Amino acid sequence: MEQRRILLAVTGGIAAYKAPELVRTLRRAGNAVRCAMTPNAVQFVAPLTLQAVSGQAVRTQLFDPVEEGGIDHIALADWADLVVVAPATANILAKLAHGLADDLVSTVALATRAPMLVAPAMNLNMWLHPATQNNMTTLRQRGVRIIGPESGELACGWDGEGRMAEPQAIADAAAWVAGTRALAGDVVLVTASGTREPVDAVRYLGNRSSGKMGFAVAAEAARRGASVVLVSGPATLRTPAGVRRIDVETALEMREAVLAELPEATIVVKAAAVADFRVARPEAGKIRKEELPPDSGPTLDLVRNPDILAEICRTPGNRVVIGFAAETGDLVASARRKLERKGCDLMVANDVSREGSGFDSDTNAVVFVWPGGDVEELPCLSKTEVAAQILDRVAKIRGGNG
Ligand code: CTP
Repeated sequence: MEQRRILLAVTGGIAAYKAPELVRTLRRAGNAVRCAMTPNAVQFVAPLTLQAVSGQAVRTQLFDPVEEGGIDHIALADWADLVVVAPATANILAKLAHGLADDLVSTVALATRAPMLVAPAMNLNMWLHPATQNNMTTLRQRGVRIIGPESGELACGWDGEGRMAEPQAIADAAAWVAGTRALAGDVVLVTASGTREPVDAVRYLGNRSSGKMGFAVAAEAARRGASVVLVSGPATLRTPAGVRRIDVETALEMREAVLAELPEATIVVKAAAVADFRVARPEAGKIRKEELPPDSGPTLDLVRNPDILAEICRTPGNRVVIGFAAETGDLVASARRKLERKGCDLMVANDVSREGSGFDSDTNAVVFVWPGGDVEELPCLSKTEVAAQILDRVAKIRGGNG
């Protein structure tokens, strides 16, 4: 693994006594490590110990002028390639889930744009409490990676789930989360959200795509070191860190933007729900009821939009092209027909009528349909996780195993 800057945030649980060992394990793997501690963590492990093993000053206070004079908390948040919270108490997990920022660790966690790995450790009943479990769901859906807790004898006397994962397991997970720069040097072109096709000056034909899947792919590709262009239909989502975004409205605008970016692209992921039809002659003004015969509506003359994905696949060039197929009914058969018709390297199919899958959901249950007939069915995952799975397949496509 190449050298990474890891910020280890230690919170106040008995497992904090393993933090020095974790620092040493992370450093042995070639990482630079800085430590931040909550005031409660200081009850379990001395800052001086972490300073000695990390070789860096340890921060414990948000407003301490001396500490802030060293490296201020925002600089610390910006410095990190990865934030590891270990041990993560129920309290810090709740704060992370809700975006509280009332001490150094929670403030840095909110300010950083780095990926985050948490290693929960607590009493079994605190871990199983619905409040904690809901917080974990929130964090997972947001893309926070979680390691453990493991089952075993707990310091509180109970036996069960709640032990912090071992330092080596946390360091391995950190290497996995921070280590993949597999797309450095790639230019990834992602399309997201739905297009809007104007009917008149105020109305449009659209669809229910939120853009979440495409934005997740763009974020994940950027995290893996790619240069990312995101061509998006109207969406209310924040542009992921490090992503260049081009906003479009109609399918024709999307086609134009995509074709302009295509020559540079080495990977194309077409997550957008492109309108298949547009109104042949949208009205420049507003269509008014009083201009129509009583009790009747206007007749819209629709024409076909170009198929952008098929056009990309026809354009010569050495690039990986991944399409999406939003389906109801026979998922695999229709996705396979689309794959063959358009000629992409992989089709990501999802049943949009299924609960927890498809439009506006934070999760997605997808099936990878490969040329040649292979089918990979994935469980219901967060869209971030699905994005990671999709980008993991690029190597397989390039290896010719598709
Ligand atoms: N797509 C595209 N241009 C279009 C329509 C679709 O680039 N005009 C792309 C989508 O971005 C997606 C894939 O083609 O990656 C499949 O989209 P989908 O709407 O499911 O398929 P269609 O080919 O439009 O088939 P149908 O709507 O008839 O199921």
